[in-house]
Amino acid sequence: MSARPASLLVIFGATGDLAQRMLLPSMYGLYRDGLLPADFRILGTARSELDDDAFRASVAEALDRRVAAGDRDEASVQRFLAAVHYQAAAIDDAAAAQALGARIQSLRSGDVVYHLSTAPRFYAPICALLGAVGLAGPGTRVMLEKPIGHDLASAIAINDGVTRVFDEARVFRVDHYLGKEGVQNLLALRFGNALFEPLWNARHVEQVQITVAETIGVEGRGDYYDHSGASRDMLQNHLLQLLCLTAMEPPAHFDPSAVRDEKLKVLRSLRPITAAEVASHSVAGQYSAGAVEAIAVPGYRDELGRGSDTETYIALRAHIDNWRWSGVPFYLRTGKRMPRRCTEIYLQFRAVPHSIFKGSGARMNPNALIIKLQPEEQIELTLMHKVPWLDRSGLKLSQVTLDLDVHDAFAQTRRRLAYERLYLDAIEGNGTLFVRRDETEAAWQWIDGILDGWRAQGVTPKAYPAGTWGPSSSVALTERHGHSWRE
Ligand code: BG6
Repeated sequence: MSARPASLLVIFGATGDLAQRMLLPSMYGLYRDGLLPADFRILGTARSELDDDAFRASVAEALDRRVAAGDRDEASVQRFLAAVHYQAAAIDDAAAAQALGARIQSLRSGDVVYHLSTAPRFYAPICALLGAVGLAGPGTRVMLEKPIGHDLASAIAINDGVTRVFDEARVFRVDHYLGKEGVQNLLALRFGNALFEPLWNARHVEQVQITVAETIGVEGRGDYYDHSGASRDMLQNHLLQLLCLTAMEPPAHFDPSAVRDEKLKVLRSLRPITAAEVASHSVAGQYSAGAVEAIAVPGYRDELGRGSDTETYIALRAHIDNWRWSGVPFYLRTGKRMPRRCTEIYLQFRAVPHSIFKGSGARMNPNALIIKLQPEEQIELTLMHKVPWLDRSGLKLSQVTLDLDVHDAFAQTRRRLAYERLYLDAIEGNGTLFVRRDETEAAWQWIDGILDGWRAQGVTPKAYPAGTWGPSSSVALTERHGHSWRE
């Protein structure tokens, strides 16, 4: 899609935590580096009755807290604040909505991007409202935060409501993992090098593990989180997107249709996990009190202040039923209050078909490629190497690691927030790193199957102490098949 760069960003939910923590600091980063059109404006909107000055003061505070001192300067902060505006509005208040429309109209000098960073139930009503006041026509686009709904049915209802007003090409569904450098580098690694592709399939890969482990708990977001759990909060979106980028066929081009068509094929090839299989293919966990990084932390229910059967950990043994991946298990796991923060993809290759070093007692580990996405960005390839030694009874081998530290390799380049990339793309109308409707619905369909299975089988989460790698049954998920989680 070729669009003119937008010159107005309207953030719905502008006083919320995400806006203050990520969205406004990201826009400042783009602004400071001169990446936005000269006349660019930001209009924040939310229910709180603030005026421009009060909102600017909160933005100034957010920049102070969230942008490293070396990445900001007073002159550009002041210029940025002057480009920021605020209009209070409640979606159910017709007069306020009219006033918001008038404000958008007065600030608009070209294309507009609306970013809905509110609860998803407001997405369709906000779009309807923008349509009703004539502000959703050509030259406007809408960004939607995850989660799109709670299950397939609610996602369809939201998508129907949104696309009644904005055609699909103008809908930009955000999965902030796609804005991360490390995640985009997965594409570069796979499709910018000839080395890996011949090995990237069931003939050579024994197993794949995708881990998104967090040390944080629910951080005051209990009401939202308790309604979602790890399956809806992380698996349906971030983990499945990582799975898609890891497993997809090479797209013909790096463009929105080609990339998203290939991701969709992966989602549609995911073997459903039926009610009969949930016990052997999935594990749900919930953290109890424990210690993370040597600090004592309460259990999930204590944090929440009530009883709950919501899972804060999920692990799965998934299969992609296509030619490339037939028979290769994809172990997926994500959890809160894990021992350390880490997002990584681990491909273990098959063992050598025959060892010529058998007699010497040398232990052979299969090769592995480990793509670490955060907190550090690192690519590791494990190899067997001879131990330097004059041993007459044969060669001794030991595992060594070829290690590329991406931060060191690009030390001069500032690591950008994921939203900087995503905002720039939405402003310029490039949807490659956004999630298409059919992707999000295919992902929900697969997740719904698992959650239905849990309900049918009465699966409730097993407790795991905070600061551990999930319930003990997650070990059996892999060990039963001769595999082990990487820890
Ligand atoms: C969000 C989830 O989408 O991603 C949070 O709602 C989670 O629960 C967060 O903590 C993790 O993002 P990141 O960028 O810190 O890995």
